[in-house]
Amino acid sequence: MYPVVEWKNNKVYMIDQRLLPLEEKIIEHSDYRQVARSIKDMVVRGAPAIGVSAAMGIALGVMAIKPDGNLEADFKEITATLSATRPTAVNLFWAVERMKKVFHLWKQDLALLKQKMKEEAIAIDKEDVEINRQIGANGQALLKSGQTILTHCNAGALATAGYGTALGVIRAAIENNKDIRVVADETRPYLQGARLTVWELQQDNIPVTLITDNMAGYIMAQGRIDGVIVGADRIAGNGDTANKIGTYSAAILANYHKIPFYVAAPVSTIDFTLESGKEIPIEERDKEEVIYFMKQRTARPETEVFNPAFDVTPHHLITAIITEKKVLYPDFKKAIDSLRQ
Ligand code: MRU
Repeated sequence: MYPVVEWKNNKVYMIDQRLLPLEEKIIEHSDYRQVARSIKDMVVRGAPAIGVSAAMGIALGVMAIKPDGNLEADFKEITATLSATRPTAVNLFWAVERMKKVFHLWKQDLALLKQKMKEEAIAIDKEDVEINRQIGANGQALLKSGQTILTHCNAGALATAGYGTALGVIRAAIENNKDIRVVADETRPYLQGARLTVWELQQDNIPVTLITDNMAGYIMAQGRIDGVIVGADRIAGNGDTANKIGTYSAAILANYHKIPFYVAAPVSTIDFTLESGKEIPIEERDKEEVIYFMKQRTARPETEVFNPAFDVTPHHLITAIITEKKVLYPDFKKAIDSLRQ
């Protein structure tokens, strides 16, 4: 099995997702700055996996703090560096907050603090797999044998600590003996669908058909899609959902064709502080991602480019949000409020 992100012998290991599916290379991280770079450069990506990586990065950073150092200042630097990597996936900030709590509980004893930080990061990793299995168990009840499900980007094992959110629902349905087929959007410009979703489903022998993003409407109009399931990077208090660019278009198409549109995500992806999706910060990435296709330039270098990495699907286009606690239905504001602790 490939390590999406793994803690081993006080080092962090990640499969380099930039190279998949052409090359399977594992990168070793012994420094928190290196982990931050890997998040920023998309060695690891996907909201829950980013959260786990940030927690492990913080643990690595704290383990390197010297007894004669300035503990508070060093910790601030570590958390600030990891927080500055990617702005949209709220799981990153959720994980940083969780690590901060542990830091403040144990900071009086450096040796114990190091142990506790490491334990917390490993716990976040383990919990994520269990959460995804629960999302799968809750979501699979919505699927019927014989259905074909369209997904966008990669919300699978590669985007989490394992099993996946959107793909976790599909895995769980198949484990329940349902015959499910997947249609994967290619997901331009970064090709998470073609490179990652197709690769991981093929590894599990789950039937998958790849389409380019602009084919989704046609295949829906033909009646060949029974449902859409996507992941999420941040869900606002009213259910508006930020996910990979192109998700909004898929939701509009699903709505037009009266196909259910599901979001599968852990409660840690809900940002209870935001009233609506308008407040979600949307990452803009380098223009190179758009003017190159698999390292081949497809437009002149001086071309003006707009490259938002995410879009926001308004809550009224979403049929249900599948979480580990329960499946949420409209009114999403009320349903999300019921999850507040
Ligand atoms: O830019 P990425 O690859 O990190 O974007 C990932 C997505 O948009 C996923 O759908 C989302 O993080 C959910 S992953 C379970």
